[in-house]
Amino acid sequence: MILGIETSCDETAAAVVTSDGRVLSSLVSSQADLHARYGGVVPEVASRRHLDLVAPVVREALHAAGVSLDRVEYVAVTQGPGLVGALLVGVSAAKALAWARRLPLAPVDHLEGHIASLYLEPDPLEPPFLCLLASGGHTLLLAVYERGRSERLGTTLDDAAGEAFDKGARLLGLGYPGGAEIERIARDGNPDSFAFPVARVPGLDFSFSGVKTALLYAVRDLGVDETERRKADLAASYQRALVRALVQRIDAAVSGTSFDRVAVVGGVAANSELRAALPNARFAPLELCTDNAAMIASQARYVEALPYPRYLALDAYASLS
Ligand code: KG4
Ligand code: ZN
Repeated sequence: MILGIETSCDETAAAVVTSDGRVLSSLVSSQADLHARYGGVVPEVASRRHLDLVAPVVREALHAAGVSLDRVEYVAVTQGPGLVGALLVGVSAAKALAWARRLPLAPVDHLEGHIASLYLEPDPLEPPFLCLLASGGHTLLLAVYERGRSERLGTTLDDAAGEAFDKGARLLGLGYPGGAEIERIARDGNPDSFAFPVARVPGLDFSFSGVKTALLYAVRDLGVDETERRKADLAASYQRALVRALVQRIDAAVSGTSFDRVAVVGGVAANSELRAALPNARFAPLELCTDNAAMIASQARYVEALPYPRYLALDAYASLS
């Protein structure tokens, strides 16, 4: 029985997962509403909110799983990358819980966690496969050789795919977080009305600054009223360009490597246009695409847990090493 805790950005999450990958509970308390008025996550606000929420969310996750802390064998927590103040709330809570029961503690990398969202029951995926990890902070193409062992083939040179969705949404006056909002508005729009570019980048890297700038210019040229009137067309065309960029890279990676299976994880994997564009790819279950603690507990199975009390000096890390 693994208790997972995730506080790397603006979701306070806790989950109970068994060592064979069954999710007994997975609770996510989103702070999105709190940050919406700022148009993005305010780190200090996020940390304070995590402090309020972490204990009740953990308690509720245990309750929903129908287990007491006595039955937890070890605690798993996101160590990084993310907002360091936010991460420290989860790390401190995990240390306190583990220390009080003399349990081991497994520090988990958030990105590895996203990949491990594919390893949970009822339909776990077995490596090897190619994996696109597209979230608010990262866009990575990975060769996954075995559980817990992957290699980076490509990354973004500027914005992450989720960030491009979020920034595009802001340009269109939509709410935060922007991905789901763009998707919603785009349903009523024509994706061919605006020709937004797909960046040409060598290798398997990504770039989203060009398409973002193209949207900015389009909005500027149209003016406020016309932008409002054509919002659905703009959203649909913008979404189409982002999805195209992701699909093109995956296609290039598939033809350049020996992998024949593709998986997609991270917040952007929730996007229905991307799902439709990759009918043969394996997507993380919808509820496990955006940040959650079940994926953290899942990944904990493939890292070495630190025995009591060696983890007391454990620190969080903000960025990729
Ligand atoms: O994985 P995640 O929850 O957090 C990070 O680790 O960053 O990803 C959040 C990102 C946000 O940028 C959000 O706009 C995007 O995922 N996202 C979506 C959708 N739902 C969330 N992007 C496109 N379509 C969606 N339906
Ligand atoms: Zn994430």
